[in-house]
Amino acid sequence: MKHSLEMRNIVKRFPGVLANDRVNFTVRAGEIHALLGENGAGKSTLMQILYGFHAMDSGEILIDGEGVQLNSPKDAIALGIGMVHQEFMLVRPFSVIENTVLGLREGPGPLLDLQQASERLKELSNRHGLALDPAAKVGSLSVGVQQRVEILKLLYRDARLLILDEPTAVLTPREKDQLFAILRKLRDDGRSIVIVTHKLAEIMECADRVTVMRDGRVVATRTIDSTGEQELTQLMVGREVNLRADKSAQKPGAPVLQIKAAENQKWSGVSERHRCYRAERCADSSGWHFIRSSGSASRWLSDANVRRRQCDSGVAKKIRLGFVSQH
Ligand SMILES: Nc1ncnc2c1ncn2[C@@H]1O[C@H](COP(=O)(O)OP(=O)(O)OP(=O)(O)O)[C@@H](O)[C@H]1O
Ligand SMILES: [Mg+2]
Repeated sequence: MKHSLEMRNIVKRFPGVLANDRVNFTVRAGEIHALLGENGAGKSTLMQILYGFHAMDSGEILIDGEGVQLNSPKDAIALGIGMVHQEFMLVRPFSVIENTVLGLREGPGPLLDLQQASERLKELSNRHGLALDPAAKVGSLSVGVQQRVEILKLLYRDARLLILDEPTAVLTPREKDQLFAILRKLRDDGRSIVIVTHKLAEIMECADRVTVMRDGRVVATRTIDSTGEQELTQLMVGREVNLRADKSAQKPGAPVLQIKAAENQKWSGVSERHRCYRAERCADSSGWHFIRSSGSASRWLSDANVRRRQCDSGVAKKIRLGFVSQH
């Protein structure tokens, strides 16, 4: 099958770090390709080179066999490459349609025909199962729906290759299932998708192929049918790993704190919204135990904790919490 994308011998050095060391990476048309690796393996760097965000030191990028130059995200978008970043790039007070057309100019005149754009948005949303209302304000949407707005923005610009960096980190399990259903549809439509992730189970669930990076190098590419979590872990960390935990089950006591449906906005100056559906701290344990929490709950709560330690009354002011204390 024809490769839709080929990255050859990519080298990228940051001061003191060889982030990409002669990386070869190919993505076929109509596949979901997972890019796996531990923290600092070089995954985001490689994708940011592909998105025109970082300049590579050396190497070649080919699309359908033709060499291309990617000097900026604008170049990448013009070539049909789009990226959904971990931190969404949406303007919260704007509507879905305003966010989608932001930065675009269509037609000969200086003004964009919003009515026409809205029709196209609806058509794309229906075709790809995104279920988006063009008039909805982005700030009022859940994180999972905001991610769909990001995907829609790429489809609106006709992206053929979609890169998603850690897309499930902020999603609830249900939102993750919805995302994977959308990605499968896009793949079946002939588009290519790269998912950057650490999560083995998700790779086994939705990817067709996986490339593993370690210390800036590609160590293997496998079809999903020919590998498993054990081998992928081994490739990722470079040694044999026992995936079975032999610890006895913890017996947590009564909850001392419950947090339900908490939200924070503009936390630490980041304009994204994290949600924590439910978290409990148990009396006889030293750590936090999360029960039915969203993916970002731990990060979010540790932020809240740190902030609370720094400033006794800061938490309640900074974030809207639904605390139910059971002391
Ligand atoms: N802009 C930068 N300036 C300096 N060093 C960087 C920069 N971006 C990445 N690095 C370094 O390059 C290496 C690869 O980082 P990269 O972010 O690509 O890894 P990653 O595989 O995406 O990791 P993670 O899973 O943590 O996101 C790391 O050592 C990182 O510290
Ligand atoms: Mg990364």
